[in-house]
Amino acid sequence: MRPRLEGRVVLVAGAGGIGSALALRYAAEGAKVALGDLKLESAAEVVEAIRKAGGEALALHLDGADEASVTDAVASCVSTYGGLDGLHANFANLADSSPDLSILDLPLAVYDDVQRVNARGFYLCTRAAIPELLKRGGGAIVYTSSAAAYSSGPAQVAYAMSKAAGHALMRHVALRFGAQGIRANALAPALTLHPSIEALLPPQMIDWAKAAAAIKSRVGRPEDIAAMGALLMSDEGSYITGQVISIDGGTIMRS
Ligand SMILES: NC(=O)c1ccc[n+]([C@@H]2O[C@H](COP(=O)([O-])OP(=O)(O)OC[C@H]3O[C@@H](n4cnc5c(N)ncnc54)[C@H](O)[C@@H]3O)[C@@H](O)[C@H]2O)c1
Repeated sequence: MRPRLEGRVVLVAGAGGIGSALALRYAAEGAKVALGDLKLESAAEVVEAIRKAGGEALALHLDGADEASVTDAVASCVSTYGGLDGLHANFANLADSSPDLSILDLPLAVYDDVQRVNARGFYLCTRAAIPELLKRGGGAIVYTSSAAAYSSGPAQVAYAMSKAAGHALMRHVALRFGAQGIRANALAPALTLHPSIEALLPPQMIDWAKAAAAIKSRVGRPEDIAAMGALLMSDEGSYITGQVISIDGGTIMRS
């Protein structure tokens, strides 16, 4: 069987725990991958691993909340690989993550910054990518959202609002550009463990996450998100659009 993403060019915006797994998986499926992050060195490490494994990849300095930086990243994909077939908008600003911060405690500047990066940044990435996807006759956009977008929580109000905004963006793109071959979907993980998250978490969080999920044997891994991303980027996902897909071990069952 041919690799599912052979001949495709995918921009992954945001490296880190999940973004690195996305880039590795898309490259393993045959895509040429551009991986952008505010921290160029973290994208470069992943790109090095992809190249060592025989794949094609490019590391970019990307500020997903800055229009010029986003435009440059898309232009780099086009000049290096000849076009763009997929965007995975994955980065996030988690500045309101402290469990103590209710709406009354959250400084307005922090609220604004979370929206600027998460909601406005995904908007900017989408606006820059769509014209290039259209030139190739369509493509796929995947947004990393969060269970926080549709569950309730005592904190992270700005983050949850920014992720819900991403769902509205995703639905707009799916409906408006579906006829032109563009699909858009969002992935909603619950706790997804990787070293930088693990270092921040109180150890009991893992037990709480397992208790809340239907699957008890483990919590989420970046590879779980990447597996669904690969399906959505490929022709196997060609009849899936406008959806928020939970990857959370059955923590939240929406119907
Ligand atoms: N890990 C989880 O438990 C979990 C759960 C639900 C949702 N998510 C979502 O998954 C995505 C990835 O999260 P993660 O756990 O891998 O976090 P992470 O902190 O490991 O990675 C996030 C990356 O985004 C980058 N970034 C931040 N601002 C940026 C900007 N303006 N431009 C470009 N890059 C920027 C950071 O440098 C970092 O590399 C996020 O959208 C997050 O909201 C994660």
